[in-house]
Amino acid sequence: MCGIVGFVGQAPAMAPLLDALKRLEYRGYDSAGIATLERGRLARRRAVGKLKNLESKLAYEPLVGCIGIGHTRWATHGRPNEKNAHPHAVDGVAVVHNGIIENHRELRKELKSNGARFTTDTDTEVIAHLVSQQLNKGYEPIEAVRAMLPRLQGTFALAFLFEGYEDLLIGARKGSPLAVGYGTGEMYLGSDAIALAPLTRSINYLEDGDITVITRQRIEFLNAEGGRVQRSPAKIANTDVSVQKGGYRHFMAKEIHEQPRVVGQTIAQYVDVGSAAIKMAEDLSAGFRDVNRVSITACGTAFYAGLIARYWFERYAGLAVEIDVASEFRYRNVTFAPGSLAIFISQSGETADTLASLEFARAQGQRVVSVLNVASSTMARASQIVLPTLAGPEIGVASTKAFTCQLATLACLAIAAGRGRGVLSADDEISLVRALGDVPRYMTSALELEPKIHQLASRIAASRNALFIGRGTNYPLALEGALKLKEITYIHAEGYAAGELKHGPIALIDRDLPVIVIAPSDVMFEKTMSNMQEVIAREGRTILITDRNGASLAPPGSWATLVLPDMPTLAAPLVFALPLQLLAYHTALLLGTDLDQPRNLAKSVTVE
Ligand code: F6R
Repeated sequence: MCGIVGFVGQAPAMAPLLDALKRLEYRGYDSAGIATLERGRLARRRAVGKLKNLESKLAYEPLVGCIGIGHTRWATHGRPNEKNAHPHAVDGVAVVHNGIIENHRELRKELKSNGARFTTDTDTEVIAHLVSQQLNKGYEPIEAVRAMLPRLQGTFALAFLFEGYEDLLIGARKGSPLAVGYGTGEMYLGSDAIALAPLTRSINYLEDGDITVITRQRIEFLNAEGGRVQRSPAKIANTDVSVQKGGYRHFMAKEIHEQPRVVGQTIAQYVDVGSAAIKMAEDLSAGFRDVNRVSITACGTAFYAGLIARYWFERYAGLAVEIDVASEFRYRNVTFAPGSLAIFISQSGETADTLASLEFARAQGQRVVSVLNVASSTMARASQIVLPTLAGPEIGVASTKAFTCQLATLACLAIAAGRGRGVLSADDEISLVRALGDVPRYMTSALELEPKIHQLASRIAASRNALFIGRGTNYPLALEGALKLKEITYIHAEGYAAGELKHGPIALIDRDLPVIVIAPSDVMFEKTMSNMQEVIAREGRTILITDRNGASLAPPGSWATLVLPDMPTLAAPLVFALPLQLLAYHTALLLGTDLDQPRNLAKSVTVE
């Protein structure tokens, strides 16, 4: 949420800053801005809306300074307009910010009573005023930032530029991610490694409480106490930062089509091919003997992956599972019992609520396992055990491949738990592992349904609402299908447990409401078919997504049927996710929405 960048070098900063902002635009696209120093004086350009608006402005009014900071905004405080676009500047101090300053009202009041004049509605502007106040007392920039930081409550990643200081950028972080990058005669700063990828592969992440002082020749770190600290740069692999559309019209399309490959490689890292057994860190597999309860915490799509995994931990490992969305979990009075394992799931590894829940669980002495896509993320550094998903960078705001890679990882973990606890036999393990091994093949078949799904999408595009239903693991999948549709098409959609329809939502059924029924031919199939009949009996329009066997058993009367290959129960949620993603994608295409960057959303939700 919000992307920040910084550059200090020998050549104009505008081009590398713009390029880095393009790579960060998935974090927010309400407005964008850049500030540089020209002959020692601050020069700023800002524009509301997408980055291309700022780019057009810069084409007419370029910035020539060789040092600068930039920002792409996801609005929290203050409307998305030019006035509220970052960088904010006060008396020769410019700042860009990712996060929320929770005590900004008190600070604003205090600053105003001391004569400060505010020009924006943002929480961030107080930071520029506070630093300027310190500079007016005669402090040098580093001391001014250090003296000001303890006044801020909330979360932040910050970058500062100072009039008259042509070789100085200062960064600081608490709660929100921030990285620095090393070049030759130039240095960089950015919200993540993706932003800095074209500039350098040599980067370093700030720890919480760190301040970084960046000049053309060096980067230094001060810790929260003001002491100098050494940090060795890490090399970032090409695969961690590649953000090309690869010939597809949208990142989302590319990411949907990558799933057979990335899910295959995610599964491969947890499977010993020779023995068809799960391989996980020894202490994790063996440790399940002493685990009697699992708690799962995540947000959004990652939470739905957790809901599906709950069925697996119960079925394959006989474990009690408690699951909650992170924004609730962190404020509930959760009691942690001995013998429980806390699992956190996140694509970005930066989601504020999930991170806070993880830190809370650790503080309570819980064993923490995280399922994460970004190996260098804050959550990865805060977890005892990290289970990586190998989806690669996910740029489309709507999560697709990260979701199925999370499912693949959680399936492996549930099997490991089942073996560790003696619930599964070696033969059970082999057949479950084989089922997972076939997932990429089933996914490839699912993608072949795309032309048919494109046709069906026109029916959804003509509707104002849609309902998704399923039972067992298909219930969370129904929630995910509805989430995908609403976030990129803005069509109102709900996911329901099929058995719950008759307890209320059946009142909605009429000829105008498409009902997507997710029903592989598993143990719940007949029951789901009864629920589908109840919809058809009320003139509801159903789209049945099933497998070959299911299609041969299903009652007539569906508006349309999508048929996948027959597959083992464990594989089904991973594969059935694909037609749901494609349905949302093609509906959005027909409606012409901005499906990689849907309105009001941002990837990487680093604020509460
Ligand atoms: C929906 C979506 C979000 C994320 C959620 C958690 O398509 O992408 O619901 O799943 O914001 O994000 P992570 O997984 O980064 O913690």
